[in-house]
Amino acid sequence: MSSSLSAARRTMAALTVLATAILLLIGLNPGQAAAVETTKGPIVFSMTSGKAGKVSAISPASVVKRFGKKGAKVSTAAKNGSFGEKVASGLQAAGGLRLANGKRSVALTGLKLTIDRKLAVVRGNVAGKKNIVVFTAAGKGTLSADPGSVKFTGGKLRFPASVANLVRNRLKLKTAPTGPIGTLFVNAFLDTTVPVDPCELDPDAEGCPVIDPYLTECNVAATSKATGSLPAAAPLPTLTNPQAITGLTTVGWGIKSSFRNYMVSPAAAGSIHARDGATATGSAPAYSGFDWTFVDGQYADNGTPNDPSDDQAILNLSGTVVLCATGHSFRVAISDPTIVVDGANSRIIADVDSNLTGVWTPAQRIDVATLNLAGGTTSLLSGTLGTKWENVPAAMTENGGKAICGVTEPQCPYSTGTAMDPVTVEARAGI
Ligand code: HEM
Repeated sequence: MSSSLSAARRTMAALTVLATAILLLIGLNPGQAAAVETTKGPIVFSMTSGKAGKVSAISPASVVKRFGKKGAKVSTAAKNGSFGEKVASGLQAAGGLRLANGKRSVALTGLKLTIDRKLAVVRGNVAGKKNIVVFTAAGKGTLSADPGSVKFTGGKLRFPASVANLVRNRLKLKTAPTGPIGTLFVNAFLDTTVPVDPCELDPDAEGCPVIDPYLTECNVAATSKATGSLPAAAPLPTLTNPQAITGLTTVGWGIKSSFRNYMVSPAAAGSIHARDGATATGSAPAYSGFDWTFVDGQYADNGTPNDPSDDQAILNLSGTVVLCATGHSFRVAISDPTIVVDGANSRIIADVDSNLTGVWTPAQRIDVATLNLAGGTTSLLSGTLGTKWENVPAAMTENGGKAICGVTEPQCPYSTGTAMDPVTVEARAGI
C-alpha cells in the first residue's frame, strides 16, 4: 500500500467509526420508525333547514349530500384532539363550511369541537371573529379515553343568538337562523399505527443506512453498497450414475494460512470468526483451519470402481468464516463452499462477501480456487466404494483474488495461481 493511500484509508475508517457512533448516540437512524397516533373518522354537519343560506364546503371538507336548494351534508375529517372518559376536546374539523345568499357569503372555519356525554360545542372563526362558539349541539356522546374515541349522535345543531344575528346581517337574510338548523354526527378515534419502515421494505432505497452484515464481528463499518461484478461460478458437472456421498459430517479447509496470519497480525489488528456451520480448528487467533459442515454430495466412479483417476465428486458444505482486518479497514466473509472434483476442472466454489474500506460488496458465488488433483494423492477407500483425494493443492483464481482483495485494488497481492490451503476430501459411496 502507498503511504498516502493508507493514510487516507485510516482517516476514512476513523471518520466512519465516528459517524456511526454519533448516529447511534443521537438515535438518528433513518430506517427506524416509531408508532404514531392519529385522529381519524368523520365530523358531519347536516345543515338541513335551509335557514342559513346555501351551504357549501370549504376543502378539504366536502358536500356528501344536498337537501333542497340550500341545505347540505358536509363531511370533514377529524384531526388532533384529546380523548377522555367524560370529555373530548380540541378535536379539529379539517376545512370548513360556507353559507351564501346570492353574492354574499360567510365562512365558518377553524372549527374545533369539545364534546361531552350530552353536548357538543363547536368553536371557530366567523366573519372576522376568532374562536367564538359557532354551534352548539345537544345529543348523545359516547366517550373513551383508552383507546381514545368519541361518538356523538343525534346532535341538534343550533347557532348561538349572536352568531345567528351575525349570519343574518352578513347574508342580509330576512330572519335570523335561530332554532334547530340541522344535525351533528361525530365518530372520531385515535388510530395507533406503526408506519411501515421503507428501509425494511427496500434496504437499498435512497437514504437507508448501509449496514455491514459482519459489523459485530469485524467493526468495519460500511459506507456504501456495491453490486458485485464478478462472473458467477461455472455450472456444476453432471455426473453419470451419481451416488450419494455418505458418512461425512465435516470437511476441513483452512482457506489460506498466510491470509489468516496477516488478518490477526498486529498491523491488521483483526480477528477470525467461524459461524453458521463452520468451526475453527487449532488455536486462536490465527487457527490452523476450519471444519465445514457437510450438507450433501455426489460421487461417480465412472464405471471403473478400481480406478480412482477418473472419479468425480461434488461436496456441498455450509458455514461462514469471517476474516477481519479491522486495523486495515477491511473484512472478507467466505461461506458455503462447494468442492468439485472433476479432473482438470476441479475447483472450490464459495460465496465471497467483502467490505473493503467501507465499500460493502454482498456475497458473490464464484469459483474461488482451482484444485490440482495431480499435486495430491488419490487413493481408493478400503472396504467400501469411494475415493480419497488427499492434500490437493488449491490455487486462487483471478476472480477469487479480486473478490478477496478488491477488483480495483492496485496493491492486491493475490492473483491467478496464488496458493491457498490444500484440501483433503473423502467421497464414500456407502456400499
Ligand atoms: C482494502 C484494504 C486492504 C486489503 C484488501 C489488503 C489485502 C492484503 C492481502 C490479501 C495481503 C496478503 C496477505 C497474505 O500474506 O496472504 C496483504 C498484505 C499486506 N498488507 Fe494489506 N490490505 C489492505 C490494506 C492494507 C493497509 C491499509 C496496509 C497498511 C497500512 C496494508 C499493509 C499490508 C502489508 C504490510 C502486507 C504484507 C504482510 C505480510 O506479508 O506479512 N494493507 N494485504
